[in-house]
This record gives sequence, C-alpha cells and structure tokens, in this order.
Amino acid sequence: MNCPADWPEPIVRVQSLSETGNTMIPDRYIKPPSQRPCFNTRSDNLNNIPVIDLFGLINGDSATQKVVRDQISTACREWGFFQVVNHGMSPELVDEAREIWREFFHQPMEAKQEYANSPKTYEGYGSRLGLQKGAILDWSDYYFLHYLPSNLKDYKKWPSHPPFLRDVIEEYSKEIVRLGKLLLKVFSINLGLEESYMENAFGGDDNIGACLRVNFYPKCPRPDLTLGLSSHSDPGGMTFLLPDEHVSGLQVRKAGEWITVKPARHAIIVNIGDQIQVLTNAAYKSVEHRVIVNPDKERVSLAYFFNPKSDVLIKPAAKLVTSKTPALYQPMTFDEYRLFIRMRGPQGKSQVESLKSPR
Ligand code: OGA
Ligand code: NI
Repeated sequence: MNCPADWPEPIVRVQSLSETGNTMIPDRYIKPPSQRPCFNTRSDNLNNIPVIDLFGLINGDSATQKVVRDQISTACREWGFFQVVNHGMSPELVDEAREIWREFFHQPMEAKQEYANSPKTYEGYGSRLGLQKGAILDWSDYYFLHYLPSNLKDYKKWPSHPPFLRDVIEEYSKEIVRLGKLLLKVFSINLGLEESYMENAFGGDDNIGACLRVNFYPKCPRPDLTLGLSSHSDPGGMTFLLPDEHVSGLQVRKAGEWITVKPARHAIIVNIGDQIQVLTNAAYKSVEHRVIVNPDKERVSLAYFFNPKSDVLIKPAAKLVTSKTPALYQPMTFDEYRLFIRMRGPQGKSQVESLKSPR
C-alpha cells in the first residue's frame, strides 16, 4: 500500500488563516469537546518531565557515567520523556537552528509554496497530517525533510532561503545524530543488552533514519477550541525536540493528566517512540503528547525523528522476552508501521496499542 499522490482537499495554510486577524476559527479546526485542551494543568517543578544533565555522561569517569545512565533509565521507564542539558551542542547552534526556521516561516507565502509537499513522501512545506477527507485539522504548518539515510537526503528539497539555512541544518543534524547514537548505547547498556544492540536493531551505523519536522504554530484567536498538534505517540524510534525558548505548548500525558512541559534553557526534549517501545517489549513507553496554541504568540519547534531503517523488522529484543514477560508485539517494518499515521493522522496511542499480540 502506498500513499496517494495528492491531498484529499485543497490545502489551507494555517499561517494565512492566522494572519486574517479573524476572531473565530474555521469549523475544520474545532475539536470535539472531549479533545479540547485544558489550561489549568499542573506545571510546577515536581510535575515537569525530568531534566538530565549529560555533562557527566560525556565527560565523566565510569562511576559518574553510571549515575547519569541510571537517571536516564528511570526517566525512560517512568516517563518516556525527559529533557537533556549540557548535551554537547553549543547554545548558539541551538538558538540559530530554531531562529533560522522562524525566518523561513516569516518569508512571503510564494517562497514557501515552492516547497509545497504531497502525501507521497511528506517532504517539504505542509499543513496537514493524514488523508481522511473531512478530518478535523490541527492549528499548525510544518516543514519536513530527510537527513539520513544519505540516499534520501536531497538538498533540492531543503529550503534555499534564508541563506545558510542548509548549513545550519547540516550542522544541527550531525549533532542530533551524535546524541541519538549516544542514547541508543545508553539504552542498550541500561537494558542489559550488548552496547551496540539498539544501533544494530535500527539497521546499523549507516542505515539509521533521521528526519526533521519543523512545526510552526501560528497565533490562534481560539486556543480553547483547537490544538496545534493532536494527541499522538511518535511512530519512530525516538524524538529530539527543540522547543521554543519563550512559548510553552507541549503537553505530556502522565497518569491520565496533561502536564505542560517547561523547557530548560537550551535543553533538548527526548521522547521514546513506538519502535523503541516495541524493541524493549514495553519496558520503555512511548507516551502520548500534544500541543496547545496561544492567542498572542506563535511557536516554533524542531522535532528530529531518529528512526530504524525503514525495511528492517522491529521486534522485542530476545533477552527481554521471558516467560514472565512474553513478547507483546509481532515483528513489523517501520515502513509498514508509519503508513498508519501518514494515512490517518495523529490518533493518540491507538496504533501501538492495537499491535499487542493477544495473550
Ligand atoms: C511532534 C511533536 C511537539 C512540539 O512533532 O511529533 O510532538 O512541541 N511536537 O512541537
Ligand atoms: Ni510528537
């Protein structure tokens, strides 16, 4: 099964809707009452996702590294979400990556339309996820591109403006891949697997997938009625999210409650995706999250998806399958898996849940 070549309906840019200055939003963006956001969520420090300092992991002796690895282990098991600081990426690069994309979205519409995407690969400038005709849409536009594997990287599909955008993405991407490989190693050790287990399960060094979706959430006159991004779990391996420095919006579901993430300065937010949930036989959980929008502030975020090679079979690691913890999932390739979100759009955790083998 392949994705069709075109969208089921004409594409409307949310940024253009926002710029009309209307005080109401079109019905297409109004969520049913049960999905509308709540704004009184707890976001004190106790209810923020864990913040983990990677300095000791990258620079410390083995005892110090172990302390950080243990913090990561707890975060993966209890939260599926954490933020890392002192991750080795310069604060300047982090800010530059976000701000150059903000500039991209602030260009005139014609400059962006040149890169208008189709559901076939989703690469380029887009305004919807999913192909269901008549679906209620999210209040966001985005830009999607591939960095790895190298055969999918195509500079012609990366914006040529602003100048240096390609250089900045290239540099930022290198750092994300370094961080991704480091964390795969940490996860493997923490799970009692061979150090290279996860990286190999992802297809090995040269075959790992890395793709970037830059999300642009325009100002919204009725943030009480819609969402910037509906509840979903990320279908891939893990995600590195660079949030907006000044505007919160990401909410994570924890014990049935929505927690609004407070980003630490220059932090990168890491979350477990469905493929790592499968590989770890659900020792690590891919957690539902969503994005709320703002009446007077736009928001830019960079979601870097770190994925298994698209045609390797992903299944629970043999060491994690025991008589007490039988395999919860059947083997499946990421290619097959991701068709679901590409066709149906964000749908909470329904996909990974539906895959559980009957016991
Ligand atoms: C995503 C995502 C969160 C955000 O792109 O998958 O969850 O804060 N983004 O933009
Ligand atoms: Ni996500």
